[in-house]
Amino acid sequence: MRIERARGTRDFLPEEMRKRRTMEARMRDIAEKWGYGEIRTPSFERAELFTVKSGEGILNEMYEFRDKGGRHLALRPELTAPVIRMYVNELKMAPKPTKVYYFGNCFRYEEPQKSRYREFWQFGAEIIGSDRPEAQAEIIALAYHILEALGIHIKAELHVGHVGLIREVLRAANVEAERINSVMRLIDKGEREEVIELLRETGAKKDLIDDLISLVDLKVKGKDALKEARERGIIASDSDASKELEMLLQILDYYGVVYTLNPGIARGLDYYTGMVFEIYETGGRLGAQNQICGGGSYRLATLFGGDDTPSTGFAFGFDRLADLFPHETPDLKRDGVAAVAVVPIREKNADSADVVEEAIKIASRLREHIPTYIDVMSRNLSAQLSYANALDASFAVLVGRTEIKEGKVTVRNLDTGEQEKIGVDECVKKITKIINHKITQISTREQ
Ligand code: HAM
Repeated sequence: MRIERARGTRDFLPEEMRKRRTMEARMRDIAEKWGYGEIRTPSFERAELFTVKSGEGILNEMYEFRDKGGRHLALRPELTAPVIRMYVNELKMAPKPTKVYYFGNCFRYEEPQKSRYREFWQFGAEIIGSDRPEAQAEIIALAYHILEALGIHIKAELHVGHVGLIREVLRAANVEAERINSVMRLIDKGEREEVIELLRETGAKKDLIDDLISLVDLKVKGKDALKEARERGIIASDSDASKELEMLLQILDYYGVVYTLNPGIARGLDYYTGMVFEIYETGGRLGAQNQICGGGSYRLATLFGGDDTPSTGFAFGFDRLADLFPHETPDLKRDGVAAVAVVPIREKNADSADVVEEAIKIASRLREHIPTYIDVMSRNLSAQLSYANALDASFAVLVGRTEIKEGKVTVRNLDTGEQEKIGVDECVKKITKIINHKITQISTREQ
């Protein structure tokens, strides 16, 4: 019986995994250099961790279940709530702000499509203990630098907003809190007609609706973004949110981050309280699911029994980045050429234990330096050589009884067919040197 993968999940083959590890290492490197410590939380949590803020409705979008002890659990749909739960439970005494990063799988019961999966990975970071403009700017700049360090050379736009801008307009018009939340959700989904409809139902005046729609539609690139918005009367000059944004944009300029002011960013998750930002791939390579990163400022700690703790963070959609990452990178290309196959030559009808023992010893020495294969199928010489060729290995090291007697091995260059008998020490040294040289050549050619 053939058993298919669960819908919305994927298998990753070695080449893809190597690519993913390369990406992960580059991202991790930047996070560490910015002084963030890696943390890991469980793949499943108490379901209430996610419903306490967002309500029971969120259960429809999650993998949730009862375990054998009747506990209501959920596979994590994201990592911010788990990180704050962990902070409240374990890290309350750590110096503030506490800066952490994470890489982990998430699960959402969504309709799978291109670049939207039911199991996907997030790489994210959180500053716990500050939502000041300095912290907001650092988080955005960190995301920006991680994207740069990945070296994927994509067309991308970073949009910055503040949920306070829209909320202030609605609050000033006495729209009740629950309605404001509904409006934010509709804005996030891009459902503009529904926003207008909902506001009309609340009795909102046409002027208010027009103001709100111009705010949502406003997209201004760069430094003068706020000035322009104020001049157009879209943002009130005494708005608290816009003052905070002003400081943030100033610091973003110091970091050299290129951004677009976009007050229409509402973010799907309910917990944001201030700055929000998103990064989109704009070269059309991801289709509709082009958001590669999202984040903002929020307060969740009190919901999980902690003190009120302003925080700021982001998460990259790692799989979307992986879809954009070129396969042809030096790290991946060296795969076959970096390999060597140790070939024990067994003699027919004879005990070949000594040959196998010697071959394993040589393989172990080579494995200290380079990827090395050794036969595990009791294959004959020619079958082992064709396997080595199929793997694209650069060298075969033949170990037979004659070689053992002479204290040597036969090294065959699989590219040229040339072979020579040399001592084991020399073989290890020579092959390691040639292969490392090949790797350097591939890397410089690619750069
Ligand atoms: P989010 O926008 O829901 O934010 O997810 C972050 C990123 O995960 C998205 O920008 C997207 O690239 C990726 N993503 C989301 N759903 C899927 C999916 N079904 N398949 C593939 N990729 C997906 C959060 O999760 C917040 N916790 C971010 C945050 C951290 N805010 C503050 N700190």
